[in-house]
Amino acid sequence: MAYLTWNHELDTKIPVIDNQHRRIVDYINELHEAIEGGDRKLVGEVLEQLVDYTLSHFTFEEELMEQAGYVFISAHKKVHGMFTRKVADYQQRFELGEDIARQLLTTLRTWLINHIRRDDADYAEIVRIAMEPGEQRKSGFLKRLFGV
Ligand SMILES: [Fe+2]
Ligand SMILES: [Fe+2]
Repeated sequence: MAYLTWNHELDTKIPVIDNQHRRIVDYINELHEAIEGGDRKLVGEVLEQLVDYTLSHFTFEEELMEQAGYVFISAHKKVHGMFTRKVADYQQRFELGEDIARQLLTTLRTWLINHIRRDDADYAEIVRIAMEPGEQRKSGFLKRLFGV
């Protein structure tokens, strides 16, 4: 049984975003397995991949929100930034040898799931509208983002 399973509450109905969120859920499960296995080196590696992936997801999401003209983008960016700093702090403590892996795993799970369900759900509609075919032609932003 996976530590964290995908459920419809996490769905934004924006396929590219849902795929990225699913990848984040997979990483959280990988991190859980690495912790259970007691391999500290592996925990560090998975943690680094998870953080890197999440940060590029944030950048992608911010670009999408900006192009769609989402009004609460600056608040959303601030939340991403606060989370990034919090995780960087945990990561540093982990690298210094502190036993914080489980605490970090719980924080990641709670924070990311709540963020996807609340904050990401909030921009989903406006982004979906902006991604509709007619709108795409107007702004051409999908072209820039995905090269389509
Ligand atoms: Fe997200
Ligand atoms: Fe977000």
